[in-house]
Parts: sequence; C-alpha cells; structure tokens
Amino acid sequence: MLKAIRFVAIASLVAPMFLVAQSSNVTLPQDKGPGKIDVSSYPPEQQKAYKVFDNKCAKCHTIARPINTTMTKAEWERYVKRMMHKPNSGISDSQGKEIFEFLAYDQQMRKDKNPSAFYKSLSDEEIEKLRSQQH
Ligand code: HEC
Repeated sequence: MLKAIRFVAIASLVAPMFLVAQSSNVTLPQDKGPGKIDVSSYPPEQQKAYKVFDNKCAKCHTIARPINTTMTKAEWERYVKRMMHKPNSGISDSQGKEIFEFLAYDQQMRKDKNPSAFYKSLSDEEIEKLRSQQH
C-alpha cells in the first residue's frame, strides 16, 4: 500500500517533467542563425521535402536549429530518428525519411561547401551546460 502511494506520488512529480522535456528549453548557438533556406535551385522533390521539414522540425525548437547545424549524413540519419522518437514528435516514418533525404541533400549542397558558416552539433553534456547557464 505504502509502496503504491509512493509510486503515485513519484509518478505525478515525474510525468510533468517528461512533458516539459519534449520541448526545448535551451537556446543553442545555431538557434540564432537564419530561419530559412533558399531552395529555389533545389530539385522539385527536395523543395517539397523542405516544406515537410519546415513544418515538422519547428515544433519544439526553432527551425534555425537544424538549418544552422552541420552533421555527416550518418549523423543526420541518427538525429532524425532521435527527434522522431521523442514523445508527440508528430513525425511519421515516411515523413522522417523525406526529411532525412532533404537534410542529406542540403548538407551536401549548402553546408559541406562552407562548413565554417555552420555549427557542429553539441553533445548532451554541452547542451546541459548551456541549459544550466541559462536558467
Ligand atoms: C518533440 C520535440 C522535437 C521535435 C519534433 C524535433 N526536435 Fe530537435 N530537439 C529537441 C530537443 C528536446 C533537443 C535537445 C536539446 C534541447 O533540449 O533543446 C533537440 C535538438 C536538436 C538539434 C541540436 C543538435 C545538437 O546537438 O546541437 C538538432 C540539429 C535538431 N534538434 C534537429 C531536429 C530536426 C531535423 C527535427 C525534425 C526531424 C527536429 N529536431 C524535431 C526536440 C525536438
């Protein structure tokens, strides 16, 4: 009985923390960069995928975050999966795939040509450090 009460008490404290954790509550350096990409020279399917990306990846943090982050193709694949699997991400498998293909293309076209204009992705520890400095 006591165990059950303790469980409910802990669960009610922890559940809201999970809800908050979905949304980003930290500003990363890349969040302050430009919030759009000129895709006018991209192939039509990439222009279409850009809209999905712009719509889906701005739910929990600014779209500037992925726009100004440089990663390898393999890292983008992992990252899109990680974002998709966050609770309430609202991103389906097929949308995730389309977004990943867009990010891989954009990485090659825009970021790999001028890497110093972009930010490398941060480790969880680096993000935690920024979070504690900002709160
Ligand atoms: C459900 C909420 C949510 C959605 C949707 C989401 N993200 Fe995120 N994203 C986060 C959180 C949380 C972090 C971790 C840092 C933080 O706490 O702000 C993060 C961090 C990032 C980072 C920072 C990487 C680094 O380490 O510097 C990138 C890039 C990123 N997201 C890209 C994307 C892309 C691309 C999409 C769309 C496929 C996306 N996000 C959709 C919540 C989300």
